[in-house]
Amino acid sequence: MEWWSGRVALVTGASAGIGASVARRLVAEGMRVVGAARSVERVQALADELKGQPGTLIPIKCDITKDDQVVSMFARIKRELGGVDVCVNNAGLAVLKDLLEGSPEEWRGMLDLNVVALCLCTREAVASMRERGVDDGHVIHLNSIGGHYISQIPSFHFYCGTKQVVTTLTEALRLELRRANSKIRISVSCVCFLPWS
Ligand SMILES: NC(=O)c1ccc[n+]([C@@H]2O[C@H](COP(=O)([O-])OP(=O)(O)OC[C@H]3O[C@@H](n4cnc5c(N)ncnc54)[C@H](OP(=O)(O)O)[C@@H]3O)[C@@H](O)[C@H]2O)c1
Repeated sequence: MEWWSGRVALVTGASAGIGASVARRLVAEGMRVVGAARSVERVQALADELKGQPGTLIPIKCDITKDDQVVSMFARIKRELGGVDVCVNNAGLAVLKDLLEGSPEEWRGMLDLNVVALCLCTREAVASMRERGVDDGHVIHLNSIGGHYISQIPSFHFYCGTKQVVTTLTEALRLELRRANSKIRISVSCVCFLPWS
C-alpha cells in the first residue's frame, strides 16, 4: 500500500456503510481522504475519531446529484489538496419496489445517484488526474452482484438495472482510457449481502 500514502482519494458516500469503512481503511494506509456526503456531520465525527492515524479524513458536504455541488467540490479539492488520485464511486441508492409499483421520482433518484453522479465524479476525477500528469490514478465503482444478472427478487429490479449500467460504464471507461493510451485504472468492486436466487 506504499503507493497510496500521502495521495488524495475521494470517497463518495463516506458518512455511512461501505463508504465510511473504505474511508477508514484508506486513512489507516496514510491517504488524504475526502469524504463526501450530505450528512457532513457524520463524516466529521469519523474524521475526529481517526485523528492520530497515518492519513487524514477531510469532510466535504456535497449532494453529488447536484452538478454544481460536484464541480465546486472538485474545485475545492484542487485548491486545498492539489487534485484527486483515487476516486471511489461508492454512494448509491436502492428504493426497493417492484417495477409495477415504483414511481418516476424514485427511478430518477436511483438513476441520478447510481449512474449520472457516478459518471460526473468519474469525469471530473480523470480530468483532475490528467491535468496534473497523474497517469497511475484509479477509479473504483461500487457495483452489486445484481449488476450482472436479473434478480429473482422483484423489488430489486430497477436498482439492479442501474447497477447493470454501472457494469457497462466500467468496461466502456476501460476502453476509453485504453484508446487514450492512459494507465489510469478503472476497477469495480462487487458487493452482495442477500441470498440471490
Ligand atoms: N450494502 C450492501 O450489501 C450492498 C450490496 C450491493 C451493492 N452495494 C453498493 O455499495 C455502495 C454502498 O452501499 P451501502 O450499503 O454502504 O450504502 P448506505 O449505507 O445506504 O450509504 C449510502 C451512502 O451514500 C451517501 N449518499 C446517498 N445519497 C447521496 C447524495 N445524493 N450525495 C452524496 N452522498 C449520498 C449517503 O450519505 P448521506 O445520506 O449523508 O448523503 C451514505 O454515506 C452503493 O453503491 C450500493 O449500491 C451495497
